[in-house]
Amino acid sequence: MAKTIIISNRLPVQLQIDNGRISAIPSVGGLATGMKSVHSEGESLWIGWSGLTEEEIPEELEKDIDSALAKHGSSKVKLTSAEVDGFYYGFSNRTIWPLFHYFLEYSEFELSSWETYKAVNQKFADAILEQADDDDIIWVHDYQLMLVPQMVREKRPETSIGFFLHIPFPSFEIFRTLPWREEVLMGLLGSDLIGFHTYDYERHFLSSIRRILGLEVSFNDIYLDDRIVKVDSFPMGIDYAKFSQAAKKHRDLPKKEQSELQSRLNKHKESTPDAKFLLSIDRLDYSKGIAKRLNAYEYFLNKYPQYKEKVRLIILAVPSRSNVPQYQLLKREIDELVGRINGELATVSWTPIWYFYRSMPFENLIDLYTSCDIAWLTPIRDGMNLVAKEYIATRTDRSGVLILSEMAGSANEMNEALLINPNNFEQIADTIHKAIQMPVKEQKDRNEVLQKRLERYNVEKWANDFMRSLTDQRDKDPAYVTR
Ligand code: ADP
Ligand code: G6P
Repeated sequence: MAKTIIISNRLPVQLQIDNGRISAIPSVGGLATGMKSVHSEGESLWIGWSGLTEEEIPEELEKDIDSALAKHGSSKVKLTSAEVDGFYYGFSNRTIWPLFHYFLEYSEFELSSWETYKAVNQKFADAILEQADDDDIIWVHDYQLMLVPQMVREKRPETSIGFFLHIPFPSFEIFRTLPWREEVLMGLLGSDLIGFHTYDYERHFLSSIRRILGLEVSFNDIYLDDRIVKVDSFPMGIDYAKFSQAAKKHRDLPKKEQSELQSRLNKHKESTPDAKFLLSIDRLDYSKGIAKRLNAYEYFLNKYPQYKEKVRLIILAVPSRSNVPQYQLLKREIDELVGRINGELATVSWTPIWYFYRSMPFENLIDLYTSCDIAWLTPIRDGMNLVAKEYIATRTDRSGVLILSEMAGSANEMNEALLINPNNFEQIADTIHKAIQMPVKEQKDRNEVLQKRLERYNVEKWANDFMRSLTDQRDKDPAYVTR
């Protein structure tokens, strides 16, 4: 039976070796959390990097590593530490990530990283070619693997290949600054279908195809000599049932079974009944606007001093890409900002910011989502932002307010949230005030619409839509039909 092969840099789990013992921890990030639900539902094999370099895997543990991954329906691509440096920390996260998020000044254009990116993409393509049967469907994910579709197509012209980009595709003016822009576009065009989160990213991509490659584009179709490539937008959903059911279970939990975090949150709520918790959860990434958010929070507390001692901001930042200098600088900046704001504004009974810098188990994420009155997410640029959707899904009594940056892809589908411009501190301060004052009836009305939409367009529907479109494309393509 034909299967789907999912290929991404991250697998659903990351392996670690501690004193000869292998452990698997869930991967963080929208791609992994979203695709995990799709993967566990169906017949698929997931190919990716285990998180360990070749040098870190002793020969005698190789088989155990493979079986640990097999338990998650996964198979590994082996990468040396030099490859991880050039491909992952280098071209993927020092060139493409900043460029595609409009941080042009952070983008480095180094030939050696590009060369490693190409070589590692070839490794992923070879792993696919080794494991895929002729009628399998190949689904490649994200900016780390943009050359893979063409590399597979060269060897298996008849294979059905889909590609989904989980980050923004920038405007032509930004994309054109990439020295290897033609190669990247040609790599993607090995696909039959290319998917984006939003219509804007799709238009940006088509504009680059026209202006850089000079290809004919009609509506969503790109005409190559021998094939048609379709481009479309598929806004990624979440596993709605997983989040709402976890929240329901959480609500019914007897007090003595609650987590330590939950008891601490409860204690604070009981001691100050009119207190409000504001929550933000992100990977520690400059695209998420965490430093700006902290400054905006200070601005808010100064503009509305009546909320001092009443409002608390909980920031959960998960460590990410900590070998890249920009991330190290950001970590330092955030540590300093939290220290300064708390130092200047705290009182004996009030700490304005609770800052956690770690990954948390799923149960604790649910503790936070369900306990916080307001979720406040301020990315400067974000492909989608699933945290916004997860927060809404956990509000089983429909109370709660979402304040969301209009620069997040998810803002397109979440008009009932309070949308803000992350650079406009005045607007942000007024919006937090509005959120705190919002009548419960209005909160529930807004969340009802959001919940219904998220429940309908969940991650399973997203994956099915993409797959259906890929199959239709293959059946429609005259080149495929005559093959
Ligand atoms: P990105 O993909 O850029 O990281 P998203 O908001 O789309 O941003 O996805 C983040 C995912 O990672 C969400 O599914 C969220 O639940 C998960 N996550 C974020 N922070 C943590 C954390 N501290 N611990 C565990 N999971 C986290
Ligand atoms: C974003 C990207 C993913 C990536 C994730 C976590 O969601 O789109 O491709 O896996 O961030 O980042 P990391 O570098 O840890 O894989």
